[in-house]
Amino acid sequence: MRRVVVLLALLSVCDGVTFSQLCSGNPNNQRRTSDMWGQGNYGASRQDRLHQGLDIVCNDGATVYAPFDVKLKGQVIVYPNGLKMAINKGIKLEGEGLCFKLFYVEPDKLWGTLRRGERIGTMLPMQSVYPGITSHVHVQMCNKSDPTRYF
Ligand SMILES: *[C@@H]1O[C@H](CO)[C@@H](O)[C@H](O)[C@H]1NC(C)=O
Repeated sequence: MRRVVVLLALLSVCDGVTFSQLCSGNPNNQRRTSDMWGQGNYGASRQDRLHQGLDIVCNDGATVYAPFDVKLKGQVIVYPNGLKMAINKGIKLEGEGLCFKLFYVEPDKLWGTLRRGERIGTMLPMQSVYPGITSHVHVQMCNKSDPTRYF
């Protein structure tokens, strides 16, 4: 019986992918809660839809880091209609068996690999588009599932 418990504990540890620090100035991946523009949790309501990612606090111009060893998988366009150009960029990443996107980041490069803690790029000037918002990186899984359990 004890052996089974130990095995289960090991399995659940191996299963537990956790994002390390994503943004300079936010060592604990503090989440955007609520501000005049809305809420940062997955599933929060937006004007015409639900929020499909999790928002991690990140000041404009801050450095964005790889949360674990990742492969860079090319640029993301956040707003296909070409609006909000000041923040209309991001990067697609793979690592730890996960595929995810970071929105509102100017990536240093679009392809290749990075080790955990290395620079992905720079947080874009979100205040210029949403004055008074809690500036943040939006973390979205490629299949739009809830990323909260990885934080
Ligand atoms: C979405 O991706 C996550 C992470 O890879 C995986 O755990 C989950 O089962 C996937 N969900 C669906 C609906 O495909």
